[in-house]
Amino acid sequence: MRFDIITLFPEMFAAFLESGVTRRAYASGQVAVHLWNPRDYAQGNYRRVDDRPFGGGPGMVMMVEPLQHCLDAIRAARAEAGEVQPAPVLLFSPIGVTLKHEVVAQWSDSQGAVLLCGRYEGIDQRFIDKHVTHQVSLGDFVLSGGELAAMVMLDAIARLQPGVLNDEGSFQQDSFNPALDGMLDCPHYTRPEVWEGQEVPGALLSGHHANIERWRRDQRLRITASHRPELIDQARAQGLLNVKDEGFLAKNAGKL
Ligand SMILES: C[S@@+](CC[C@H](N)C(=O)[O-])C[C@H]1O[C@@H](n2cnc3c(N)ncnc32)[C@H](O)[C@@H]1O
Repeated sequence: MRFDIITLFPEMFAAFLESGVTRRAYASGQVAVHLWNPRDYAQGNYRRVDDRPFGGGPGMVMMVEPLQHCLDAIRAARAEAGEVQPAPVLLFSPIGVTLKHEVVAQWSDSQGAVLLCGRYEGIDQRFIDKHVTHQVSLGDFVLSGGELAAMVMLDAIARLQPGVLNDEGSFQQDSFNPALDGMLDCPHYTRPEVWEGQEVPGALLSGHHANIERWRRDQRLRITASHRPELIDQARAQGLLNVKDEGFLAKNAGKL
């Protein structure tokens, strides 16, 4: 899996690629990340990558030519690495589909893509019309650039790769996993057993595996019903709630 990132701020990715549990995925090339700066493909002494918008108005627009030369170089590098079909080009944009587990799962099961991080007022529309195949948004707000969105998506993709997390079962227990039931995760506790008068729930200290599992399941039901009830409806519609789950929900209806 290979991601080529077009960004005017490649330095933003340095700490991200070297930190935390996912760094192994990037370092080993399991999720290969290559950074490309359109400024390196710009003309003239000033290596200009932006210009004023036609029609006037505030801000600047990313110019099409440096982006085209940058994409040409990426295409050549990917072809040299054996790519046959041109990779999709994904633009981070408020226009795009909102990044959710399904979108992450789709890309985590792919050959990768070219990720395009916009800056300023955005990118000359002609480049988007010619090359962009997908658009992804982080949500209904405006970022200063697509870099944070790219890091968010890469991080979520990397932790879904086999062997990346220390504990293989970890991501399977995480929130939103449709292979489990798509519900939210349960609360977690560690030492000390008592902190400022607050005790760790007794079931977790019982050493009784089935009771611990039941407690965790009930907490996942409780949290999901109270914060994201539509996920309970989805799990129910898919037949992923058992009799004990329904009993817990019925008993606690109105209290969750
Ligand atoms: C300042 S924004 C441009 C905002 C644009 N003029 C608008 O109002 O939709 C610069 C870049 O940040 C990125 N960006 C901004 N908001 C985003 C979001 N919600 N999700 C993903 N990327 C975003 C895009 O790549 C965008 O081209």
